[in-house]
Amino acid sequence: MNLDGKTTVVTGAAGGIGAALARRFHAAGARVVVADRDGDRLERVAQELNSVRPDSALAVVADISSEAGNIALIDAARNKFGFIDLFFANAGVAQGTDLESTDEDTWNAVMNINLHAHRWAAKHLMGEWLAAGEGYFCSTASAAGLLSQIGSGTYSVSKHAAVAFAEWLSITYGDRGIRVTTLCPQGVNTNMLNPPDADGIDKRGGDVVKASGDVLEPADVAEVVYNTIVAEKFLVMPHPEVHTYETRKVADRDRWLAGMRKLQARIIGG
Ligand SMILES: NC(=O)c1ccc[n+]([C@@H]2O[C@H](COP(=O)([O-])OP(=O)(O)OC[C@H]3O[C@@H](n4cnc5c(N)ncnc54)[C@H](O)[C@@H]3O)[C@@H](O)[C@H]2O)c1
Repeated sequence: MNLDGKTTVVTGAAGGIGAALARRFHAAGARVVVADRDGDRLERVAQELNSVRPDSALAVVADISSEAGNIALIDAARNKFGFIDLFFANAGVAQGTDLESTDEDTWNAVMNINLHAHRWAAKHLMGEWLAAGEGYFCSTASAAGLLSQIGSGTYSVSKHAAVAFAEWLSITYGDRGIRVTTLCPQGVNTNMLNPPDADGIDKRGGDVVKASGDVLEPADVAEVVYNTIVAEKFLVMPHPEVHTYETRKVADRDRWLAGMRKLQARIIGG
């Protein structure tokens, strides 16, 4: 896909990977709708893009953890720029850890943001895309969606589900002009991995991620994503070691699980 002159929407774009994706798509000539629930940082991203090319970016403060939030975002993007060529469901959270996490506080919130937001967005884009015979759906899952996230059941499950949903979308609609790409990074230097105010935050999951491979910069990840979209390929795996880990997992699951337990014991104990 050539992004020049196309309309793109990126959620979770107030910072981190989402802001880097917005900047990369914009540099390729796209109009960009940036969405996030953090309005102040979001507005600064849109202002930065509009200062490069006037009226080429729109900030939409949106909470994508509900179907209504996704509908409002899609409506705002269409009202401003018309047909949405590419939608990137990137917003995500890493909350909750173990079996003690409550449904209300963590499981439901995490599943709504990391999985159902993708489903709601796709649902409200697909009619227009099928009528046009084209549309590009992208999501940010995680290496945890291919492997696992030591220390967080909510994150592991929601990211596996996000990968499964993207695969299903591609299988179901791929022959009708719908392209799908999903991003599965390991460590990326963002607020999620390095919270600015880390007091009281459980950092063990992040410590495991940092021990498992390189921590990449968001702009470098965005570059790999951009090249994958241009080539219209499904999987973005910016950390090559993830491919090695995944191959080992598929080859011998018991051995892989034993290795993961060892890593867990080494980094977070027991
Ligand atoms: N940083 C990493 O190491 C890493 C690794 C693998 C996957 N990811 C995934 O990358 C994506 C982007 O995360 P990031 O690393 O840039 O972290 P980040 O915390 O900088 O960005 C996430 C953004 O999503 C927004 N957001 C969260 N819930 C929202 C909601 N309900 N409505 C609207 N916006 C919401 C946040 O405000 C934030 O700006 C996430 O899906 C994350 O799970 C990150």
